[in-house]
Amino acid sequence: MARHKIAIVVGSLRKDSINLKVARSICAFASDKLDCDIVGIGDLPLYNQDFDTDSPPPYARFREEIAAAEGILFCTPEYNRGIPGALKNAIDVGSRPYGQSVWDKKPAAIITASPGAIGGFGANHQLRQVCVFLNMPVMQQPEAYLGRVSDDSFDADGCIKEGALKGLILSLTTAFSDWVDLIIRSRQLLAEDAAHAKA
Ligand SMILES: Cc1cc2nc3c(=O)[nH]c(=O)nc-3n(C[C@H](O)[C@H](O)[C@H](O)COP(=O)(O)O)c2cc1C
Repeated sequence: MARHKIAIVVGSLRKDSINLKVARSICAFASDKLDCDIVGIGDLPLYNQDFDTDSPPPYARFREEIAAAEGILFCTPEYNRGIPGALKNAIDVGSRPYGQSVWDKKPAAIITASPGAIGGFGANHQLRQVCVFLNMPVMQQPEAYLGRVSDDSFDADGCIKEGALKGLILSLTTAFSDWVDLIIRSRQLLAEDAAHAKA
């Protein structure tokens, strides 16, 4: 299996974010199959359609990093049963100017982690709805509502402790890497078929 380039977008700007720690754990677990980069969103000015003609420099940096990735992994908290504003802002920035969305056709997965019992289910599904419009094939299973995650789930170095949560994150990592590979290889086969048909 080819090693695919993945952009991870973390919906929390907090330095001790549990979602950031989940993202870092996945980067470590997937290193043989996925080349993961956590793409920053904290410096993106609030999206304004006027910027479509003259964008602030962080917009170009962000769009380039997402465009260069073969797949996208969202790791995000839920804020008030929805997507955090910083993440929605980043998604909007990447979606414009009209017709130049950097999200288009990128295979994706969504992980929500929360100290709460339902693991950010509301934000997870709100984000799925956004991804439908952005034409991103989102991994359906396993679903990833990580509940009861706290600082205690990680050791002093931020690594996830042994236990059920680690097992779940390992299986999510494998499923996501298979998902990205499936979409990328299917697309390559279709392109080859089209080239043969033309020849
Ligand atoms: C503004 C705000 C709204 C929140 N709303 C929810 C919520 O709707 N559901 C939930 O499970 N947790 C909610 N929380 C708690 C977060 O899940 C918790 O702070 C979590 O640690 C944030 O993720 P992070 O550690 O990655 O920053 C909220 C926290 C904040 C600051």
